[in-house]
Formats: sequence, C-alpha cells, structure tokens
Amino acid sequence: MTERDDCQKHLAEIQALREELMQAQKMSSVGALASSVTHEFNNILTTVINYAKMGLRHKNEETRDKAFSKILAAGQRASKITTGMLAYARNGSDRREVMNLVELVEDVLVLVEKDLQIHRVRLQTHVEGEPLAEVNASQIQQVLLNMIINARQAMDGGGRLDIGIRANPDSKCAEISIRDSGAGIPGDQLRKIFDQFYTTKTADAQGQGGTGLGLALARDVIEAHHGRLRVDSAVGKGTTFTLKFPLAQARVANKPTNIIRSSTAATQP
Ligand SMILES: Nc1ncnc2c1ncn2[C@@H]1O[C@H](COP(=O)(O)OP(=O)(O)OP(=O)(O)O)[C@@H](O)[C@H]1O
Ligand SMILES: [Mg+2]
Repeated sequence: MTERDDCQKHLAEIQALREELMQAQKMSSVGALASSVTHEFNNILTTVINYAKMGLRHKNEETRDKAFSKILAAGQRASKITTGMLAYARNGSDRREVMNLVELVEDVLVLVEKDLQIHRVRLQTHVEGEPLAEVNASQIQQVLLNMIINARQAMDGGGRLDIGIRANPDSKCAEISIRDSGAGIPGDQLRKIFDQFYTTKTADAQGQGGTGLGLALARDVIEAHHGRLRVDSAVGKGTTFTLKFPLAQARVANKPTNIIRSSTAATQP
C-alpha cells in the first residue's frame, strides 16, 4: 500500500468516525425530548379516549361527528410527531439541496414545541423574505435542535425564545437566529463553548448530562456549508446564535409552508 493509499484510508476512517459521532449526538437530543413527547402522547390519548366515550354515549349525528373530528385531529397530530421523530432519527444522507429554511425550522419545531411549553418558554418566530440556501437538511436540523434545547436549558423557570429566519439580500445571506432570554454565557466560557466535550451540564438523576458535542458539531457543519456561526451573549440577559448561509436561488417550486407562513407565530404555555 502506498503512502497515499494509507492516507486516504485514514481520512475515510476519520470521516466514518465523524458520522458516528454526529449520529450519537443526534440520539442524545432525541433522548432529551423523550419525556415531553411521551407527555404529549398521553394528552393525545386522553383526547382520543374521551371523545370515543362521548361518541358511544351520544347517538345524535352532530355529537358523533364532533367526536370523530376531534379523534381525527388528535390522530393526525400524533402522526405528525412520529413521522417527524423518525425522519429526524434516520441517518441522514450527504445530499444538499436548495431549501427554504422556514420549512427546516418548522420541522424542528414540531419536535420541540411541547418541551418548550412544559418548561414555560414562550416561542415566537419571525420570517422575512424567502431565505433559500443549499443545505443538508438533516445536519442543519440537528444543529437547530441542539441550539433550541441549549436555549431551553439556559432558561430555568421559563423565558422567551425568538427564532428569526430571514433572507438578507444586501449581504446575500440566508440567516437563522435563535435568541433566548436565559442565563447568558460568561466571557471566559464563551471561548470554550465550541470545543469538543466542553459542557457545563452535570448528569441528572438518570445519568443524562451534556456531551459537550452539540456546538462543536454545529461549527463543523456550518463550515462545511461555507456558512458562518456567530454568538452574542450577555450574562443575566440571554444569548443569540446566528447561522448564516450563502443565499441561493430557487431551483424548483417550493412547497407552501404552513405554521410560520405569516410574519409571526406564537406558542403560549
Ligand atoms: N443558549 C445558551 N445559553 C447559555 N449557555 C449555553 C447556551 N448554548 C450553549 N451554552 C453553553 O455551551 C456549552 C456547550 O454546549 P453544547 O451544545 O456543545 O454541549 P451541551 O449542550 O453541554 O451537550 P450536548 O449538546 O452534547 O447535549 C453548554 O454546556 C453551555 O454551558
Ligand atoms: Mg447542547
């Protein structure tokens, strides 16, 4: 084997390990959502059971139709969550495609909405223009999910989470900003947060603490997309992470987005 072959073999091994690490971090964020998803399924089942009982008790058509519509809506919500969770957990491909970043954010919010609600975090989203970028959807969703979970964990006792998704024609960037009203990050820690395995989170009763990989992987992913990642933080006030990607031109007709179509959508606890 030549030196060149040897080098290529090592590079391939490093790439395979990197992918395994990404997948392990992804699974850890799925774990962080397990309790809120179970909670939401419990609520959905309560709705289904109660409306099924109501439908059986009342013989008139109007009441039965109402019961069926409620059961259908609850089932559709459950299906949206399981579909989203399965799609997220799948080992993503390397493919990049031009996407509207609003759709990416919507898919992540389906998974975290309940978690934010349980922790009394008020969510607001803002959309400006048509932020198209050529991205690997699975990787960017993983980055976003980690940042939203980080933000929620920094807001002990609740707070505000503002997510902005905008096209900036002047800088030719498509941007996503995630702003929380949490604890903030002291200056000496700010330099370390992108280091691998740097975490300030201690293991909880179930032995689950931070792996300190979320932001290190985020930095790698954004770099690979020729993007930029910026953090601004003030202790006691909050933190903002901004992701910038080169603005792309539409290649195919974009499918319409639903929950954040207008300028603002809010979820109240
Ligand atoms: N929004 C935020 N507010 C305050 N501190 C933050 C915020 N985001 C990240 N941090 C700090 O940066 C550290 C590193 O974050 P990172 O996402 O890389 O790892 P983690 O959240 O600790 O673990 P993992 O994401 O692997 O579960 C965190 O432990 C925390 O101290
Ligand atoms: Mg994290």
